[in-house]
Amino acid sequence: MVIRICMGSSCHLKGSYQVVEKVKELGIKDLKLLGSLCFGKCERGINIEIDGKLFSNVTPENVKNIVKKFIKEGE
Ligand code: FES
Repeated sequence: MVIRICMGSSCHLKGSYQVVEKVKELGIKDLKLLGSLCFGKCERGINIEIDGKLFSNVTPENVKNIVKKFIKEGE
């Protein structure tokens, strides 16, 4: 699984670093965690991409559920 987290200035200010920490806490096996340049959708940040699928309005609070749901349902 590859998760790319936007590290652009807008998403950074909204807490993308904390999102990275939360994803790490999940302890997912074979996870490739990458930072990304701005996705160009700052108004809907924080943006992350899981296996090429874009998720917007991500927060440190909801990211774990988003990732878990993706693993369970593939979406
Ligand atoms: S800074 Fe994250 S989408 Fe632009």
